[in-house]
Amino acid sequence: MKVLVIGGGGREHALSAAIGRSARVSEVVCAPGNGGIAAVAKCVRADQKDIDDLLRVVAAEKPDLTVVGPELPLALGLVDAMQQRELRVFGPTREAALLETSKAHAKRFMQRHTIPTAAYAVSESQREALETLEMFHLPVVIKADGLAAGKGVLICEQKAEAEKAIAGLFGGQLLGEAQQSIVIEELLTGEELSFLVLSDGKHAVPLVPAQDHKRIGEGDTGPNTGGMGAYSTDTMLDAQMREWILSHIAQKTVDGMAEEETHFKGVLYCGLMMTAKGPMVLEYNARFGDPETQAILPRMESDVVEALEACVDGRLQETEIRWKPGASVCVVAASGGYPGSYMTGLPIAGLGEAARVPGVEIFHAGTSFDGEQYRTAGGRVLGVTATGADLQSALGSAYEAMGRISFEGMVFRRDIGHRAVKK
Ligand code: AMP
Ligand code: GLY
Repeated sequence: MKVLVIGGGGREHALSAAIGRSARVSEVVCAPGNGGIAAVAKCVRADQKDIDDLLRVVAAEKPDLTVVGPELPLALGLVDAMQQRELRVFGPTREAALLETSKAHAKRFMQRHTIPTAAYAVSESQREALETLEMFHLPVVIKADGLAAGKGVLICEQKAEAEKAIAGLFGGQLLGEAQQSIVIEELLTGEELSFLVLSDGKHAVPLVPAQDHKRIGEGDTGPNTGGMGAYSTDTMLDAQMREWILSHIAQKTVDGMAEEETHFKGVLYCGLMMTAKGPMVLEYNARFGDPETQAILPRMESDVVEALEACVDGRLQETEIRWKPGASVCVVAASGGYPGSYMTGLPIAGLGEAARVPGVEIFHAGTSFDGEQYRTAGGRVLGVTATGADLQSALGSAYEAMGRISFEGMVFRRDIGHRAVKK
């Protein structure tokens, strides 16, 4: 069969590579893909912000299955449009994806279904928000309602800071567009965990857990990024806690969605805070995480396409997903200056030597390839992923491979997995 992957980052490279390994798959196409993805898939030009353009690609390529990577095509209704045309697609409808695309909607949903999350209030005007703020203890978390590419969450220690955030969100100064509603919520403390499940609309089946590293600097300092690395181990979540999260959060969400007739089919990403009172949902995403996917998929032993098709066909319960024991890690190399402004077009050296380190797979996030030379083409450039018997050995391989890669201004964190290493 032929599979089309929508997207062009590290997550889509990991997806395209895993899909290409499936015995069922004869061809992988990625739209738009990137320089590195071109080694595992045919890359075709596409505008991910334009549903008509994506439908044009689907009509031209005639895939047997389409897998949607990023949130934007979900938010724009690509899955709905494809389902109307009776085309096979993995991902939630626009309405189901509201769990990610509207934080107010997600919070109300969790409240309706008693899914543990931070205490919150939704405000629809600056005045209402300032009044609501009075009810909260500091520090407080202020969130834009809609998609904000990681820039819509503000943790405010001081009241003046919170008032400024509220004014900036409703006034449009903070995100470029004035918000119609915001969420104010209690600050949760603990360790974060990315708990992803596959769902066929009825059943939730967990992937191995992962942890992301959002800050640019070592020791979790400096500004937030799209993710500087991720890791996954057998020991980060014990079986009892995993079952608790599955039944009280993930399966409960899938059940709640089914009850409300907005069946969730696809990947449900539960971003959790492991608080002293137990796991609580920080956010939902309606898609695979980036860079979690680069750490998760190399640990999958069974056929990913079989699992994705089982979701589409509503027979996930019969499907067994098998995992390699041990650990994996993905370390991201970014352009100097990221997440601020950075240069592109810089030649990347050492990719061949790096790929020869046993257990290592390199996923490109922002690269171009002219037939001879890979060059940087984005803020996050590539992710070096390694699997191993335990986290230390995976880290050893990933950093050995990273040491063989270079481009001008390259930055990466040397402390990926530090919380687990310390334990
Ligand atoms: P979100 O997009 O809602 O996940 O927020 C992005 C990040 O902000 C999360 O991964 C957390 O690091 C942080 N965050 C969000 N909500 C809270 C909260 N209630 N308490 C503490 N940190 C939070
Ligand atoms: N790693 C966080 C995300 O994919 O949103």
